[in-house]
Amino acid sequence: MAEFQGKTAVISGGAEGIGFSIARAMGAQGMNIVLGDIDPVQLEKAVATLTAQDVPVLGVVMDVTQPAQWQALARQASERFGNIHMLVNNAGVGGGTGTVEQISERDWRWVLDVNLMGVIYGTQTVVPLIKQHGEGGWLINVASMAGMVGVPYAGAYTATKVAVVGMSESWFAELQPHHIKVSVLCPAFVQTRINLSERNRQAGYQHAEDATEQDAAIAARMQAIIDNGLAVDVVGERVVEAVRQGELYIFTHPNYRKVVQQRYQAIDDAFARAADSPLLASVLDEDIVGFT
Ligand SMILES: NC(=O)c1ccc[n+]([C@@H]2O[C@H](COP(=O)([O-])OP(=O)(O)OC[C@H]3O[C@@H](n4cnc5c(N)ncnc54)[C@H](O)[C@@H]3O)[C@@H](O)[C@H]2O)c1
Repeated sequence: MAEFQGKTAVISGGAEGIGFSIARAMGAQGMNIVLGDIDPVQLEKAVATLTAQDVPVLGVVMDVTQPAQWQALARQASERFGNIHMLVNNAGVGGGTGTVEQISERDWRWVLDVNLMGVIYGTQTVVPLIKQHGEGGWLINVASMAGMVGVPYAGAYTATKVAVVGMSESWFAELQPHHIKVSVLCPAFVQTRINLSERNRQAGYQHAEDATEQDAAIAARMQAIIDNGLAVDVVGERVVEAVRQGELYIFTHPNYRKVVQQRYQAIDDAFARAADSPLLASVLDEDIVGFT
């Protein structure tokens, strides 16, 4: 508990689902919690719940795709609690599902802007503040099992989650000298309202009426899978456990290990074939630069 006690966590998309589960768990560790979320109604409920549990909490209505709103959130967080120590880039949407032809440019933009640019803007706003005070801290990015293995018919979502895993690996090394520990959470299915992400689609990303019907059909199909997912409360507790252990990759579904192993095996097999290629013999003994 001591390492988190009295410190401040900013959690995007913290009003419900996985973000709120992390907020609850970090609040129970004695942290001050700042929730940023696009949904004012859910946000108010989340603030009330944490307040009733004696967690010091601030709710800020914001859209992670807007850098100025990140700046405003950081200002309010600092005014209320002083230094920020932890950023949880959690806000995300489960859009962009379908075939190559079905995922429209609007869908791509929406998913890329929320799931990828939202993480970038959050990190660019908050990490410099953690660096400045010099007390160290944590950067926790919420990716997905889709960041480990490409999911069929989910090209846009997969692209963002692979990117979040990659950025986390990159920042892990970069931020080590600043005593900022980076973790990336990669859950499979969790019982949240991710299948109803359309509720959070901002006006600028609206798409055609027939696509809306398609979204509703996908949401309905996803419901049963989500209903069988992991109970959301476990996820926050698991994040506390893994962050304490200094994990870079945080997994919540050990049963998916074999799926990731199959991918690594396929990659390793492809390397073996490249090593056997007479075209590449001269590269085999060259030094590796830039990757450590
Ligand atoms: N539920 C799962 O099965 C699952 C699995 C793997 C990864 N994830 C990831 O977990 C994260 C949280 O998703 P969840 O499952 O809790 O979904 P959720 O829909 O229950 O919660 C998402 C939260 O983010 C907020 N939000 C959405 N767009 C926003 C925006 N532009 N700006 C600010 N807030 C915004 C929503 O209002 C909501 O409070 C996402 O990044 C998602 O991709 C979820």
